[in-house]
Amino acid sequence: MQRIFSGIQPTGIPQLGNYLGAIRNWVALQADHECIFCLVDLHAITVWQDPEALRQQTLAQTAVLLAAGIDPKAHILFNQSAVTAHARLGWIFNCVSRLGWLNRMTQFKDKAGKDRENHSAGLYVYPNLMAADILAYKATRVPVGDDQRQHLELANDIAQKFNHDYGVEFFPAIEALIPPAAARIMSLRDGTKKMSKSDPSAQSRIEMTDDADTIALKIRRAKTDPEPLPTETAGLQDRPEARNLVDIYAALAGITAAEVLARHGGEGFGPFKTALTEVLVQAVVPIAEETRRLLDAPDHLRAVLRDGAGRAAEIAEPIVSEAERLVGFLK
Ligand code: TYM
Repeated sequence: MQRIFSGIQPTGIPQLGNYLGAIRNWVALQADHECIFCLVDLHAITVWQDPEALRQQTLAQTAVLLAAGIDPKAHILFNQSAVTAHARLGWIFNCVSRLGWLNRMTQFKDKAGKDRENHSAGLYVYPNLMAADILAYKATRVPVGDDQRQHLELANDIAQKFNHDYGVEFFPAIEALIPPAAARIMSLRDGTKKMSKSDPSAQSRIEMTDDADTIALKIRRAKTDPEPLPTETAGLQDRPEARNLVDIYAALAGITAAEVLARHGGEGFGPFKTALTEVLVQAVVPIAEETRRLLDAPDHLRAVLRDGAGRAAEIAEPIVSEAERLVGFLK
């Protein structure tokens, strides 16, 4: 059975993009993989986080993941800082990775913007730690949204360079599992920006804890253009907001964008938004309700993470110890 590793930053409530791009696949992959899912709090502090909020969000995200169908008994769910192997292998990878490679990372450029000098060194070496997350378990498959593709290519470069430098076939190749549709859900306010937990406008995203009224309101206010929906996908070109809403509908209904347009092409956005709200409510509200129930039992959530961290450490410890031996640390 192949081993899966994937992570999410506990920096807010998971949004629809996290769900369609990643979490929904995590749930499905549990059927035939050994899965390790991680709340990456070490990554979260690469930008400022209020300490108490970070703790709360770690629990809240645990609740959402359980509500969405992650099975913490058959698989592993934990927070990254609880397993020291990540930071130890991350440091080794800081020394394997090259500045030239990091300089090409588009996510760093997007996040740091023009004000590079004022960002943390952690944000810059962020992808090295991601590589460590995966390779500390020798995981071979990583389900992520499209925005993580470049980071996984870098992880493969790091693994190869490590193997080459130390003359061993130690770390395996990693395969990114990116969904064919919904790999990049865009903001509801701007179809050219990706939907994100950290967008200052809550109107830009559907959160996985939104109730039916909130979802209806956000979709009603979602930016569109004045034209009716096209009847064919070619008509979505240069209409990023229309494309995004059609993609969301398609992903939730389990059909293609062409099939959505066969049903709704020619309609104005009013009736289409009503139909979209319906499929969204069906997908999100049960998760939101179960999340609220789980949040009433924070001790249970803590126990799930503690148990997961113990089992994660058992897998990672011998692998990272061997990596440390390979680089020459005295044991
Ligand atoms: P994060 O927390 O930004 O996002 C978690 C997952 O959600 C996906 N995603 C999206 N998919 C489609 N449309 C969107 N708008 C959208 N926004 C987010 C992301 O691709 C991701 O799969 N660096 C990672 C966390 C991480 C990780 C890892 C992932 C740390 N170590 C090791 C895999 C393996 C991140 O910031 O995810």
